[in-house]
Amino acid sequence: MKRRSVEPVYSMCVQPSFIIGTYNEDGTCNFAPITWVSATGVGSDKYMLVISMFGSKRTKQNVIRERKFSANLVNTSMLPLMDYFGTKHKAGDDEAEPEYGVGVGEALDVPTLDDSPWVYECEVAEAVQTGESTTFFCHIRNIQMDENLVCEDTFDVDLTVLDPVIYSGRYHSLGKMLGKIGDFRMKAYEDTSDRKAILSKFHRNVVIMYALLFIGVIVSFIGGLTVLSNPAALIVGLLLVFVSIFFGFASGAIFCPFCGGIISRQGFGEYCRHCGEKIY
Ligand SMILES: Cc1cc2nc3c(=O)[nH]c(=O)nc-3n(C[C@H](O)[C@H](O)[C@H](O)COP(=O)(O)O)c2cc1C
Repeated sequence: MKRRSVEPVYSMCVQPSFIIGTYNEDGTCNFAPITWVSATGVGSDKYMLVISMFGSKRTKQNVIRERKFSANLVNTSMLPLMDYFGTKHKAGDDEAEPEYGVGVGEALDVPTLDDSPWVYECEVAEAVQTGESTTFFCHIRNIQMDENLVCEDTFDVDLTVLDPVIYSGRYHSLGKMLGKIGDFRMKAYEDTSDRKAILSKFHRNVVIMYALLFIGVIVSFIGGLTVLSNPAALIVGLLLVFVSIFFGFASGAIFCPFCGGIISRQGFGEYCRHCGEKIY
């Protein structure tokens, strides 16, 4: 990859798009797009939502005062709504407000958007000031997710179901779901000459190891039967058995060539029982 150095002013921070729902002082609802949204871990499966706001916008004042808000993920069909909320102050009052449904959180009294496929209900734990920005670290008190989404664990979320708008100065949509962690570890080797070379060396070593073992066992057996007249045969046979074991360790014949897991116990199973790679 050929790169060039540029001024450190450009941002390619890939941001998820959220519309933050808060109450104004008079009890009316306020919604504004905020994309400086991230997360930080606080325990094995627990995490906090981190959201950063610049200046003195109404949403920021509301969050400071109420210490709670909803973060409504924006999907591609909500783009007109996000654009409207993001520019409404500049456009003035004469612009027609688009139609949208408003609900209320299930764990917290925060306004939510009916159209959003994923809503966080958050409570502020801590705020950190950096220049004119305030970053809020927030407890997630409830998540409302699209009923079509099935998650096996905390991080098993198929984003293609949610169809989020990704922002980085411009609006983007997601591409394909490519897989899970680990799916690509050995994919690079698949059907490549590297992979073939690794496997053929491994197979050769396995054959040598078993050949030595086989001959060693036969010679030991014969040596055992003729131990009185020919004790050397038993010694040679046993020696060959030891050599085959030593060779197995030294050449890697008893380890998976991809993950290094010991495979002697699985015999000639087609796939490594540790990493699942096809080895025979
Ligand atoms: C796509 C988009 C992303 C934005 N992200 C942020 C953000 O992360 N932080 C922020 O302070 N303002 C952000 N803004 C600006 C606010 O949404 C904007 O100032 C809004 O008018 C504030 O409304 P309010 O005064 O009702 O809170 C964003 C605007 C748009 C259009």
